[in-house]
Order: sequence, then structure tokens, then C-alpha cells
Amino acid sequence: MAEDVLMVERRPPVCVLTLNRPKARNALNSRLLQALEQAVATVRSSKDLRALIITGFGTKAFCAGADLKERQTMSESEVRNFLYNIRCLFNDLEELPLPVIAAVNGVALGGGTELALVCDLRVAAAGVTMGLTETRLAIIPGAGGTQRLPRLVGTALAKELIFTGRQLTAHEALTIGLVNRVAEDGRLMEVCLELAAEISQAGPIALAQAKFAINRGLDVDLRTGLAIEATAYEVCIPTEDRLEGLSAFKEKRKPVYKGR
Ligand code: COA
Repeated sequence: MAEDVLMVERRPPVCVLTLNRPKARNALNSRLLQALEQAVATVRSSKDLRALIITGFGTKAFCAGADLKERQTMSESEVRNFLYNIRCLFNDLEELPLPVIAAVNGVALGGGTELALVCDLRVAAAGVTMGLTETRLAIIPGAGGTQRLPRLVGTALAKELIFTGRQLTAHEALTIGLVNRVAEDGRLMEVCLELAAEISQAGPIALAQAKFAINRGLDVDLRTGLAIEATAYEVCIPTEDRLEGLSAFKEKRKPVYKGR
């Protein structure tokens, strides 16, 4: 069905989703949103996955944002519907109970940068540019950019970047903390897979709970955040994996976690 616009590569414990509309610089159209929604639902219910990587096909673009040609054909109510769908999709992605890595292989503009912002970690190829360019089109970031960018890089810088629609190089993005790392030429997927492999050694319930505690704790006062952390820890206490971690330590072997 919509699989041609999104490549889904399951290599448990990692899954790689590749936006596959290179001729449109991997812009997000309705079909691609639908394909992403299906893939996110599948990943959510896959017990054998420990990390998800999202990237774009080719080297030119991670994602050029919303499909502006499709947008031109839409009525106002269709635009609202698209925005509703993209917000739901990005929220679902953000809430996946496993770490999500954006492998930013090429330009990430507008919704492309917003997609990267929804991921837990971002690794950029050396030559890429990123930015929330929407105000140049007389619109605003509509898939979380006005909220997620300031939380990541600070209010003043986010305002400057959104008001100007400026595009940043990978190294500028690294300097302000927009990306975690910049990969050397040709090594982007290798770096992301290494990161995913490192993450995959952790207990899956612990990963889900750590992500939950960090995400939910960000927007509340410290006391409430600490209560969220305590509740998330509580989920880990009765698990087989916690006992396995202790046994493996004692027996000087690698733990085998089952997500139970
Ligand atoms: N929506 C739909 N089509 C897009 C697109 C988008 N967001 N971005 C690029 N394309 C299409 C172009 O129209 C072009 O199609 P064509 O071959 O039929 O003319 C094709 O992708 C290649 O784009 P081009 O501009 O020639 O490639 P480039 O590598 O020189 O530049 C970008 C790539 C992404 C920097 C540039 O296309 C661009 O600035 N796009 C708009 C990005 C944007 O403003 N996004 C925010 C949306 S809210």
C-alpha cells in the first residue's frame, strides 16, 4: 500500500525507517504520514525492538518538511486535518517506549527538523543543514517546533531561529545542542547503529521508564518530576530483568534481558 514511500527495515533489536520520496526531498505528504503512522503502531507493539532509527533516502534530504506541492492543492480544512494528523503522529513517535534516533542524512527543514526534534537523539551527517524555516512561508512550525526547540536549546535562541527561519550547519546544530553528534563523512548509519547497539544492552523496561520520566518530568516542577521518577522506578522493581541484572553482575556475565 503506502510502503513505497517508507522503507521499514527490521533488524531486531533495531528497526530503521527510511523516508523514501527522494524526488520530493522526502517531504511529508499524506501518504507518507499514513505509512509512518502504521510503522509507529507496529514498532510500539514489537517486543523484540530496543531502538528505532529514522532517516531519509539518499544523501540530499532527511526531510524537506511538509509537501508544499500537496499543500497547494488543499483546502483550509484539509490543511487543518493534515496538521492534526502530523501532530498526532509526532506525539505518538515521541511517546514510543523505546529510544528513537534521527539519522539526519541531508537537509532537515521545517517539519523535517520538527521530526528530528521528536526523536530522542539526533545524529547529523557533516554536510547537512537544519532549521525551522516556516515563518519564511508566512506560517509557523505546526508540528511541535515552537514548543520542542525552546525546550532543547533555550527560549532566546529558539526565538531567534524561528523568527529568522535561519538554517544551521551540522556543526552549528551541534554547538547549540540541537544534535547530539556529527558523524564523519559516510559514517552516519554506522554511528547510529553503534549508538542503537549500545542502547540495546540496557533493560528495555528501564529504557521505557527512563524515557517516560525524562519526557514527563521536563515540563513540571522539580518535586513533581522527582515523584514521576519515583513512580517510573517503581515499575522496574518487580521485573525479572532487574533480578537478571543483579545475577549477571554477581556471576560476572552479560545480562540477558527479556522485557519482563
Ligand atoms: N515539498 C514538496 N516538494 C519539495 C519540497 C517540499 N517541501 N522540497 C523540495 N521539493 C521538491 C522540489 O520542488 C523539486 O521538485 P521538482 O524536481 O519537481 O522541481 C525537488 O524536490 C528537488 O528540490 P530542489 O529545490 O531542486 O533540490 P535542492 O537539493 O536544490 O534543495 C531543498 C532542496 C530542500 C533545500 C529545497 O528544495 C527547499 O528549500 N525546499 C523547501 C523546504 C521548506 O521550506 N520546507 C518547509 C516546509 S513548511
